[in-house]
Amino acid sequence: MQKIIAANFKANHTQTSTKKYLQELDNRLLNMPLSKNSHRVYVFPQVANLCANDFTSLKIGTQNAYPAYNGAFTGEITLEALEEFGITTILIGHSERRNILNETQAFCAEKFAFFAQKGFEIIYCVGEDLSVRQKGGQKEDLEALKDFIQTQFEGIDTGYEKLIIAYEPIWAIGTGITATIEQIRQTHQAIKSIAPAPLLYGGSVNAENSSQILSLKEVDGVLVGRASLDVESFYQIIQNSYKENK
Ligand code: PGA
Repeated sequence: MQKIIAANFKANHTQTSTKKYLQELDNRLLNMPLSKNSHRVYVFPQVANLCANDFTSLKIGTQNAYPAYNGAFTGEITLEALEEFGITTILIGHSERRNILNETQAFCAEKFAFFAQKGFEIIYCVGEDLSVRQKGGQKEDLEALKDFIQTQFEGIDTGYEKLIIAYEPIWAIGTGITATIEQIRQTHQAIKSIAPAPLLYGGSVNAENSSQILSLKEVDGVLVGRASLDVESFYQIIQNSYKENK
């Protein structure tokens, strides 16, 4: 199956460095001696660095947008601006927006409904913090974990045809700690029983650990933060996805 490899730049890179990165990655992918059908690549630059979505081998998506066509929403980006760039992919529910920007489940659901209605591809993020993961003590309580993740699907149409889910345990994001292969496998199985969409893993994925993670049949791709900032390292992860896919 085609693997999905996505780069989440968060609040990193400038307009100049983003442009250079995108051109270089697009060129490398074009010249890659691989089957074009082996992977789908997305890059999510920070909003100020969005640009026309007209690359050949990758798609640009937005890390965020307000659920409106335009209007009085100071500091936000809306559909009208995205349309001009030809952007039709959005990240919703990332833990940094839920926790740092205090986005509620109801607001995530409102955004989801708006952008689904506009036909966007939605990468919808879910994931638990350490207190949920450790609830069962030494023996992890998978049922409690599943119940928690289920709450992050409240108000979300899990049958939406352009839905991609990203499982990102909060304790593994930007910490250098990756979930173990068994934790990823079990949690992905649990999430797949809730929603039938392609499912990415995210949380300290890098060029070294991505091959093993991508080799799991429960993993349809990866969402990469820190290790995507360097074009060489992200390209390596894409190459690893191809190896795993052969
Ligand atoms: P990380 O971030 O790869 O730096 O852990 C992943 C994400 O938050 O999408």
